[in-house]
Amino acid sequence: MQQQLANILAEATAAAPAIAARPDFEAFKARVAGPNGTLTAAMKSMAAVPKADKPAAGKLLNQTKGELEKLFAATLARVEQNEIAARLGPPIDPSLPSPDDEAGSLHPLTQVREEVCGVFRKLGFTVADGPEIETEWFCFDALNTPASHPARDMQDTLFFPAATRCPDAPKHASEAYLLRSHTSSVQIRTMLKQPPPVRIVAPGRCFRRDTADATHSANFHQIEGLWADKNVTLRDLKSILDFFVREMFGSSAQIRLRPSFFPFTEPSFEMDLKSPNLGRLSDRWLEIMGCGLVNPKVFENVGIDPAQWTGLAFGVGLERIAMLLHGIDDIRHFYANDLRFLRQFASAV
Ligand code: PHE
Repeated sequence: MQQQLANILAEATAAAPAIAARPDFEAFKARVAGPNGTLTAAMKSMAAVPKADKPAAGKLLNQTKGELEKLFAATLARVEQNEIAARLGPPIDPSLPSPDDEAGSLHPLTQVREEVCGVFRKLGFTVADGPEIETEWFCFDALNTPASHPARDMQDTLFFPAATRCPDAPKHASEAYLLRSHTSSVQIRTMLKQPPPVRIVAPGRCFRRDTADATHSANFHQIEGLWADKNVTLRDLKSILDFFVREMFGSSAQIRLRPSFFPFTEPSFEMDLKSPNLGRLSDRWLEIMGCGLVNPKVFENVGIDPAQWTGLAFGVGLERIAMLLHGIDDIRHFYANDLRFLRQFASAV
């Protein structure tokens, strides 16, 4: 028995270094520990060991098993390293100069995002952030959007399966995780972290169950704005938005606020833009963002006293702004990574 076990261990130890791929590893392990393996045979032969020798033989068997398990684990770790290395391909040195003569450039959406944030920075806004995977509470309930609201319908919002767990975002009771359908959830996250006065813009990726066409994409970007302070009025909203469109679209750009409805603002508006610099779209009012004064219910939901604090909020589609600014007629150009499209924006950096 002793000799048998020593041989098994010696053979396995000698064979292990040559094993590089997973099928070889599986075969190697089966030769030892599989149903017809050498170790399995040794275990079976325990029955024939005289009773007096059994404790010593059993101890030795367990020791050998332990050694072999260590050997398997180390061999498998090496095989996995090989697999990762094969997937990564030959090593590259990212510090080497690019083989292209041209320097890279920022994506047009990144450029427009920075431009928009820059305009709001001039007005004292800072940039805030929030997760793309949200819970129903942050995306809807806290924003005063009741369970029956159509925005919560499966048609519009991309929900995760009920069993999904996301340890970074604790859930309230039985709510589901979803891909945020707007950046308004960052209003909630910001106000929970920091009491007013708050003045933030939050650019970010949003998701809806839209079929892609020239003006829709299931993945798009918004920039959210929130200003919560004492005595914030509609006049503040109008003047901020006036400033924004003039900075972005030129000093002769005009805005108009049309009454609308959002559960998290009251009153709510759609903001339309008209600018003589927009080519064939110059003669029209173009709807570009939703906005309004923060609904007192939203303040209550985040523990802020609505008798003391007021606020304004707005949400604008980044693609929409970029398309108008650059005369782009199909939203899908932004995501196609076609260099002929992207290179047209290289000089702007
Ligand atoms: N979240 C709204 C949307 O996605 C836009 C909005 C933001 C409206 C803030 C009002 C205030 O359509």
